[in-house]
Amino acid sequence: MALQGTLIRHMDRTELDELIDAQNEIFADYIVPMKSSREFWMDFIRSVGGDSANVLVAVDKGSIIGYVNPVIDGEEAWVGGVGVVPEFRRRGLGRKLMLAAEEFSRMRGAKEISLEVIQGNEKAEELYRSMGYHQSNVYLCADGKPQQSSGFGIAPEKATLQDLMDLHDRSYENSCWQRRKIHGLMMTARNSECYRVKGGFVIVRRVENSGFIPYLGVVPEKRGQGIGTALMKFALNRLFEMGVFTTGLYNVNDELPVQRLLDKFDFHVTLKQTEMCKRL
Ligand SMILES: CC(C)(COP(=O)(O)OP(=O)(O)OC[C@H]1O[C@@H](n2cnc3c(N)ncnc32)[C@H](O)[C@@H]1OP(=O)(O)O)[C@@H](O)C(=O)NCCC(=O)NCCS
Repeated sequence: MALQGTLIRHMDRTELDELIDAQNEIFADYIVPMKSSREFWMDFIRSVGGDSANVLVAVDKGSIIGYVNPVIDGEEAWVGGVGVVPEFRRRGLGRKLMLAAEEFSRMRGAKEISLEVIQGNEKAEELYRSMGYHQSNVYLCADGKPQQSSGFGIAPEKATLQDLMDLHDRSYENSCWQRRKIHGLMMTARNSECYRVKGGFVIVRRVENSGFIPYLGVVPEKRGQGIGTALMKFALNRLFEMGVFTTGLYNVNDELPVQRLLDKFDFHVTLKQTEMCKRL
């Protein structure tokens, strides 16, 4: 049954708690179960350079039943989440929300829009394909363990924000939105340990008993010389010293050099995401 009287409009900032409740309902049966909160959302939106005021919501009888989160940076737009609460699915709302996000992005000057979809989320992938999106990249997440070692072949030094910005700019050109854009780097750098060598950098982070390597980059002209392996070894040893049990890597490019690095350190892939894009 088609939806009558459902309005798509920008969210009012006072509706943030209601949006979060709707998201928790939308993503309760998701491939990777997600539970949001005000803090989680605010961190997320800052890390991707977004703005809650840009969020479009579908409202039915005064309640939020769907949302889409367009993030715009110059001529590029990115969808940082879309969803419809289960009982209102399959009635054209997902498509309407996506069209509204595209229209809004176009009005703001974007010429291209992209998004990521977890492999296996066939409903969403089918929706995007039917709207003209095509695959542009694949990213993966992997889990491994910290490892004690010595002799990294290089001597990483603590990196300043300026070092990081420069190395990031040269090594993360072709990565996913969240890693490529500067906002995520700045936020991560603030509560992590950041190291650099000539031509590369790595960031390690501990959250309770879990370790993360949110960034590890080598500038193009220095690749293929063992710097990535040395940085990975250093990072895993540092996480070992911090006493964490596991180490996660998120949304790294699914490319041969990355796969080799992951194999070398016994990491296993936990999920893959397809990046899709479309000209506006
Ligand atoms: C993906 C989602 C937003 C689609 O919302 P929706 O309102 O059900 O989508 P629509 O009714 O507009 O359907 C649009 C198209 O999506 C595809 N689609 C939606 N549900 C589908 C299903 N169960 N099986 C196959 N294709 C499906 C179809 O191509 C459909 O077009 P059609 O009805 O003409 O065949 C919704 O399923 C959802 O919220 N899922 C959970 C959150 C999520 O996965 N978000 C995307 C993260 S990348």
